[in-house]
Amino acid sequence: MGSAAPLLDVQGVTIQYKTSAQLVTATWRVGFQADRSDRLVLLGPSGCGKSTLLKAIGGYLTPTEGEITLSGRTISGPGPDRVMVFQETDQLLPWKTVLQNVAFALTASGRASGQNADEQAMIAIRTVKLEKFADSYPHTLSGGMKQRVAIARCLAMQPEIVLMDEPFAALDALTRQQMQEELLELWSRSQFTLIFVTHSIEEAILLGNRIVLLSPHPGQVKEIMDVNLDDPGNRFHGRFDELRDTIHRVLFKDVGDYVI
Ligand SMILES: Nc1ncnc2c1ncn2[C@@H]1O[C@H](COP(=O)(O)OP(=O)(O)OP(=O)(O)O)[C@@H](O)[C@H]1O
Ligand SMILES: [Mg+2]
Repeated sequence: MGSAAPLLDVQGVTIQYKTSAQLVTATWRVGFQADRSDRLVLLGPSGCGKSTLLKAIGGYLTPTEGEITLSGRTISGPGPDRVMVFQETDQLLPWKTVLQNVAFALTASGRASGQNADEQAMIAIRTVKLEKFADSYPHTLSGGMKQRVAIARCLAMQPEIVLMDEPFAALDALTRQQMQEELLELWSRSQFTLIFVTHSIEEAILLGNRIVLLSPHPGQVKEIMDVNLDDPGNRFHGRFDELRDTIHRVLFKDVGDYVI
């Protein structure tokens, strides 16, 4: 395997769910690649298989057809090299404090233990500006703060790939904007590889350097676009509206009432 191989390679991935009543084809021969430090966004309408694809990259689902490789090796299960942040703001353990939640991820995965785990957890908590709340319990935090803890927990693991499934969808517009900016700031500091799922065109352009546009159910790749704004996160960038229109047109071909 040459050094030019992509970090993540999704090749011809079809995923089906078998239920007792029927066979649901969630994605159909999906292919895309992500290189180290990419911010790759999976964008498409509800039900097109975005979460399904993310779960397969996480190793929680096995493709019915096709293959997903990480550094040339087939993904066959979950691992600490890929950490997921979910849409729900209640993904923390309610009986543990912020610090304990983050440290627990490190100890449970064998990444660190004891004092070491606490120290590493505190560093991650500081990066999301929650050090004053290290001893607070999740129920005392706002939705945005809880998502920050989930992001801290993920970053503390120093994964090869960060997987985010609509992590800001449950937040109000202002908090969402703030979290998007913080995420980009975190990325510019540690340049992790990000795979981010959203159905918001604007969020995709703001956060992604590459966007995979998926068709409605079953999800197929319609187009892969390079964003390459010199100033990511800038809503007033000259190319922003142009990209937004292009994406809209591509997605609108099939979805008459695509909601942003
Ligand atoms: N556990 C499951 N069993 C059966 N079918 C499933 C299961 N999970 C998802 N599906 C089906 O697979 C398809 C893709 O679902 P998925 O959740 O991946 O879509 P999505 O793009 O993440 O949608 P949303 O934007 O609403 O979160 C849908 O038709 C859904 O009904
Ligand atoms: Mg989903």
